[in-house]
Amino acid sequence: MAVRIAPSILSADFAKLGEEIRAIDAAGADWIHVDVMDGHFVPNITIGPGVIKALRPHTAKPFDVHLMIAPVDPMLQAFADAGADCISVHPESGPHLHRTLQTIKGLGKRAGVVLNPATPVESIDYVMDLIDLVLVMSVNPGFGGQKFIESQLGKIAALRQRIDASGRAIDLEVDGGIDRETAPRAIAAGADALVAGTATFTGGPGQYAANIAALRGG
Ligand code: DX5
Ligand code: ZN
Repeated sequence: MAVRIAPSILSADFAKLGEEIRAIDAAGADWIHVDVMDGHFVPNITIGPGVIKALRPHTAKPFDVHLMIAPVDPMLQAFADAGADCISVHPESGPHLHRTLQTIKGLGKRAGVVLNPATPVESIDYVMDLIDLVLVMSVNPGFGGQKFIESQLGKIAALRQRIDASGRAIDLEVDGGIDRETAPRAIAAGADALVAGTATFTGGPGQYAANIAALRGG
């Protein structure tokens, strides 16, 4: 399967997010990755459902919403209503991951689990039937522009084996420090979707198409 590229709007110009989303859509983005942070679960604050709702009319591409908030359950409905297509949560962001995933599926959305660098692959063993996506954090969540953590390549490979053995169509996405050098290595390990903030938005709108093409391997 061709790798899907999900630009993270965390690295976009926040003063003109609508324009930025239209530009990355036109430049070939597959999904729009939206990083939601609460200043509590992670040491940074970004955007909430109101901004996602305002951005929704600017593209028909799926919104890949990465929630870094705790507790997460009380906010799921708001993100679903705002126009999220896939909602991904960290196991650490609520006491009952299975219940959280059931809620997301009940809202009619794709459900993802996000594994922090220290979170083991076994975290998803008993929720495989509920998930559409696994997101491997190759940096600690909170900020763009960090360095890719090498140990996560082994985790990607381990997850690829588990997903293939499950026989289910579960996307394997990687987030953090993805650039022209790390993208092919993540793909070789088994990733089929890549988040990229810095590597997409570097150079401004005139560069977005070339930046995204470079992540695909040419
Ligand atoms: C970090 C976010 C990432 C971040 C990636 O918490 O989940 O999506 O924006 O940024 P880069 O691609 O710059 O590492
Ligand atoms: Zn993210």
